[in-house]
Amino acid sequence: MPAPLLGDVFPNFEADTTIGKIKLHDYLEDSWGILFSHPRDYTPVCTTELGRAAELNPEFAKRNVKMIGLSIDSLEAHHGWSTDILAYNNDDNVSKFPFPIIADEKRELAVSLGMLDPNEKDQTGMPLTARCVFVIGPDKKLKLSLLYPATTGRNFYEILRVIDSLQLTAQKRVATPVDWKPGDRVMVPPNIPEEEAKTIFPDGVYTKELPSGKKYLRYTPQP
Ligand code: BEZ
Repeated sequence: MPAPLLGDVFPNFEADTTIGKIKLHDYLEDSWGILFSHPRDYTPVCTTELGRAAELNPEFAKRNVKMIGLSIDSLEAHHGWSTDILAYNNDDNVSKFPFPIIADEKRELAVSLGMLDPNEKDQTGMPLTARCVFVIGPDKKLKLSLLYPATTGRNFYEILRVIDSLQLTAQKRVATPVDWKPGDRVMVPPNIPEEEAKTIFPDGVYTKELPSGKKYLRYTPQP
């Protein structure tokens, strides 16, 4: 199973998780999915990341996105560590961790999905999982991937932001510019001719004048 590239159908793997055995496509049903790995249970950066992921789970759910974590630790470790994460979040009244975590103890999934960080090793010299993120669409195709080393924690608000962009651009023929957030103006992609743009975007297209005279910087209100 080669590491998936953008547009590939994501491998329909089977895995042991904290909610039992899952087959990825069946678990996702018609939802979007985010599969993300972390290096090790009971480690500081991972605890802050999974804490934020658990806190933001309702925001992902609102966007019809199912979350799945993965590391090379055991189910027993995942269950024990989940309690620590909820305590770190001060979630005293939450007893159940909000999404499943895969136990990839043999590193089979991590290897096949290209999730390992060769620079971070365990006591036996085996590489740990990096901080990998895959966003999978309802068509089961890979829409986005991120790969951070073990020593750099991710920003889960940014992952929500890119999901907003992915979901908008899956529905509308627009692209989102730097630092875009929902409600901001969006860009008309270069492959839409000027005349067609006028009909597709009835709220108007603003073209910024540039020294080259080329009319490629076109904005429209978010449809
Ligand atoms: C951490 O989660 O704190 C961590 C894990 C592996 C390497 C470096 C940091």
